Amino acid sequence: MMLITGATGAVGRPLVDALLARGAKVRALTRYPASAGFPDGVEVVAGDPSRPEEIAPHLQDVRAVFLNARAIGDAVGDFAELARRAGVRRLVALAAYNVEHDLALQPSRYVGDRNRECEAAAEESGLEWVSLRPDVYANMALPLWGAQLARGDEVSWPFPDFTEAAIDPRDVAEVAARALTDDDLLGTKPVLTGPEAISHTEMVTALAEATGRPLRYRAIGPVEAVAQIAAMGLPPELAASFIARYAAFDGRPATVTGEVERLLGRPARSYRDWARDHAAFFTSVSQGQ
Ligand SMILES: NC(=O)c1ccc[n+]([C@@H]2O[C@H](COP(=O)([O-])OP(=O)(O)OC[C@H]3O[C@@H](n4cnc5c(N)ncnc54)[C@H](OP(=O)(O)O)[C@@H]3O)[C@@H](O)[C@H]2O)c1
Repeated sequence: MMLITGATGAVGRPLVDALLARGAKVRALTRYPASAGFPDGVEVVAGDPSRPEEIAPHLQDVRAVFLNARAIGDAVGDFAELARRAGVRRLVALAAYNVEHDLALQPSRYVGDRNRECEAAAEESGLEWVSLRPDVYANMALPLWGAQLARGDEVSWPFPDFTEAAIDPRDVAEVAARALTDDDLLGTKPVLTGPEAISHTEMVTALAEATGRPLRYRAIGPVEAVAQIAAMGLPPELAASFIARYAAFDGRPATVTGEVERLLGRPARSYRDWARDHAAFFTSVSQGQ
């Protein structure tokens, strides 16, 4: 049995599918089981992994656990210890490509992600472990730009030439399924990226091509960008960290690794692939204008 935390998440959901396709038994943990909508064959259990003592019963008969750093937060060390005592043999951490960067340049820490701690908890658990270090997900276009694209055809964003080696979360999920079931990734921290470094303006062009919408990119300065991100309801510290990260690495193309292709035996999905597969979302939001 595999226990998946963050099972309804961007990686969690395709991971559940990938494990089922491999014939694994899957227990999906969510705070909202009634609306989780998993396919038949998945054991859906209720719980908040940031309160590990509550989910202890769900660790029974579990061989491997997928640790989502967002879902578990500061409790990840306690969670790993609980898993060890319950007889779990393997932990696979969902960390991030930037876990070794200055914490101030890791924006998601300001919404509670504890990627560095998650990796350390797996590595120091005494169990078999793998830590996945994915780059920025292609689907970040949804939370960051979705509202703008619902209002019109313009994306206002800073640092137009800043590049990301954006990865399709479905590729992270397929590598995670390998890490949970196969042994050749044990004790490794693969940095998972898309197949190319793609700039902010190129991402918007890809969305325009995929949707047929006449999308434009409007470059804005850091002050306007901080105000815009904060106005989305996100913490001001998160907004400042976004800008600090862009400023720190602007002008340096994002590093592309070949890890997805090496581990999956096929090329990583591109940003254009992701945009094409999600074009309906960006078309439907604009129709709600
Ligand atoms: N997004 C990126 O570009 C990116 C890139 C690299 C690494 N990462 C890392 O991957 C991890 C997951 O990030 P994500 O953006 O992809 O999120 P996500 O996995 O899509 O969503 C978080 C999941 O955690 C569960 N959860 C449980 N308790 C939660 C809580 N208190 N707050 C929020 N979610 C909770 C939610 O499930 P229920 O609501 O069903 O309980 C949800 O399925 C983070 O540590 C992030 O830093 C993200």
